[in-house]
Amino acid sequence: MSTNSEAAPTAPTPVVELRELRKIYDVGGEIVAALDGIDLVIEEREMVAIMGASGSGKSTLMNMLGCLDRPTSGNYMLNGYDVGAFSDNRLSDTRGRYIGFVFQSYNLLPQLTAAQNVELPLRYNPRGFDRKQAVLDALERVGLSDRANHRPNQLSGGQQQRVGIARALVGRPSLLLADEPTGNLDSRSTEEIITLLQGLNSKDGMTVLLVTHEPEVSHATKRVVTLLDGKVLSDEEIEQQPAANLYAGAAAGALS
Ligand SMILES: Nc1ncnc2c1ncn2[C@@H]1O[C@H](COP(=O)(O)OP(=O)(O)O)[C@@H](O)[C@H]1O
Ligand SMILES: [Mg+2]
Repeated sequence: MSTNSEAAPTAPTPVVELRELRKIYDVGGEIVAALDGIDLVIEEREMVAIMGASGSGKSTLMNMLGCLDRPTSGNYMLNGYDVGAFSDNRLSDTRGRYIGFVFQSYNLLPQLTAAQNVELPLRYNPRGFDRKQAVLDALERVGLSDRANHRPNQLSGGQQQRVGIARALVGRPSLLLADEPTGNLDSRSTEEIITLLQGLNSKDGMTVLLVTHEPEVSHATKRVVTLLDGKVLSDEEIEQQPAANLYAGAAAGALS
């Protein structure tokens, strides 16, 4: 999100650069290549959908990108840094500073208010934020200023997910990762959440990656990467559709 006005005129560093990335699981002697040689570059301000059948490696990829896990081999460069070489401490510090994660089932703590949930990541964030103001700003950004003191069970699914997004963006991460963010939502709430994610990308300049199995949701992004058996099957730039059109049939002919 920096403007880089003083930077040398070199090509900008991609947010994400994966080279021959592999994640191998050994399940009782059976070898599973959850990621089997992924090459992928994601530039700042991209909005990308990751698609693919169940078991194709989407969540493994998101966990890797989110610094929750390390590759078995290959490289993950995040903002130009080789994450695979980081110590555990540096990896979790990197996760806290540079990654925002949005979950399918929101993962809010039920005993905390919306504001307290949003504040959680800042407790581990060493940057000198005015925490209270950052929380208010994040809740305002997702349109929930008036729900700051509500607990999750007093909020609709769509509102809970907006709290989840506020929590993900409060630390101003370089990368917003969302694994099936609308998987538990009806079409109306899906439109709301996708509109919000599109705005965070186009207005706030955030780099957004989301996993979805819904073609409609993928049409709301600018690029669709499809996985099959831990490999990139296809990687296409698409014409982004406004979220309000997604279920109106307007997107039906938009993809080749
Ligand atoms: N912790 C794990 N241990 C063993 N196998 C795993 C683990 N996580 C994922 N896998 C396997 O890796 C493959 C990819 O899984 P996953 O990334 O969850 O796929 P998706 O999210 O696309 O459904 C699957 O075959 C899955 O069974
Ligand atoms: Mg998954």
